Amino acid sequence: MMLQKSDNEVYTIIQHELERQRHVLEMIPSENFTSVAVMEALGTVLTNKYSEGYAGRRYYGGNQFIDDVETLAIERAKKLFSVEHANVQPYSGSPANQAVYFALLNPGDTVLGMELAMGGHLTHGYKLNFSGKYFKAVSYGVDKTTHRIDYDDVREIARREKPKMIIAGATAYPREFDFKKFAEIASEVNAYFLADISHVTGLIIAGVHQSPFEHADVVMTTTHKTLRGPRGAMLLVPKKADRLHDIYHPASKKDLAQLIDSAIIPGLQGGPHNHQTAAIAVAMKEAMEPSFKEYGRQVVKNAKVLADSLISGGL
Ligand SMILES: Cc1ncc(COP(=O)(O)O)c(C=O)c1O
Repeated sequence: MMLQKSDNEVYTIIQHELERQRHVLEMIPSENFTSVAVMEALGTVLTNKYSEGYAGRRYYGGNQFIDDVETLAIERAKKLFSVEHANVQPYSGSPANQAVYFALLNPGDTVLGMELAMGGHLTHGYKLNFSGKYFKAVSYGVDKTTHRIDYDDVREIARREKPKMIIAGATAYPREFDFKKFAEIASEVNAYFLADISHVTGLIIAGVHQSPFEHADVVMTTTHKTLRGPRGAMLLVPKKADRLHDIYHPASKKDLAQLIDSAIIPGLQGGPHNHQTAAIAVAMKEAMEPSFKEYGRQVVKNAKVLADSLISGGL
């Protein structure tokens, strides 16, 4: 064990965390446990390499194998989600969302997302986040009695505020998102539609949650939640022909995929984390297995049993 010998302090902390993870019941929905194969890919020499740019167009030499791994990850993402374009370079979910803002909007433009206190994410327009500071953020929430998104309310806000982008997705919303309804509203007000599926990606793959791919202009997912991969994120652009939601917007004349790619680099990031890309590729291979679908179905079954038990326990 090299680490134990060279830096026993860090090694010991990691061992403590391993024991903690083994002995607690982790109920945090944004977390998961990666496979050993994913961990192995993460801890590799790929972390040593700089590769700013995209496959075949790098600003550094020696990237023939990095190109291979990134291309493999992209091809797997395209297959797994049946999309036209995938960018696997975002460092994590927040920079991935940021890249979408930068790709599609101008500072000061209005965005409509779910309010933080109602379950939305910081990057969906929170006032102390870049999304609330540099953009005009308006928000929707949940109905106070049903605790579900009130789509009539979303429509009303959208008609009133005329956002340039509507975001569906949340950090704390234990209900299904109706992506079709969001798309209809976005179409009505000529807004881009970003589906942030970070929390439900694994469930979508398993077929137990509505898919956003026929409806959204851009889909963002983190890779470390229900997808069960390493920390990271992907930006996915559905096939234009498959998209029911069609908008007219000056930027939409340009290729969305190209806008997304250039928002990541040179817009926002430098060198991609290649070890992370490799581990995301491994996680996607695992997600293509029939057992992953079974896992997704089981997550929903377990959640229902937990909910029923909490309710019958008086909560
Ligand atoms: C819906 C949603 N979007 C984006 C993010 C941001 O991801 P990250 O923490 O990787 O920046 C999260 C994280 O919890 C999230 O729940």
